[in-house]
Amino acid sequence: MVKITYITHDGTEQAVDVPVGISMMEAAIQNGVDGIEAVCGGNCYCGTCRIYVADGWLDKLNPAAEEELAMIEASGEEDPRARLACQIPVTETLDGIRVTTPEFQK
Ligand code: FES
Repeated sequence: MVKITYITHDGTEQAVDVPVGISMMEAAIQNGVDGIEAVCGGNCYCGTCRIYVADGWLDKLNPAAEEELAMIEASGEEDPRARLACQIPVTETLDGIRVTTPEFQK
């Protein structure tokens, strides 16, 4: 199991233990995490699973594909820590990762 801590914009933390192989979006939805909407169900076209990855963790993630980068850019996001949780598979190397959700996702 891999521990992921999701932090809402107001600082509320929720740590969950999830299996390898699902996405960080699925991990949040399955555990009732606030701040991840995932309207499109993980198909990379709603942008409502946005997370901001804590310092030191970005280079441990799979690189964002062109489709993900385009979706983030189209939303006007400028924070370089932004990723779409549905596009990030949970791996052992992510054990302990901390991510924050934006205020507009509730
Ligand atoms: Fe829609 Fe991630 S769930 S883009």
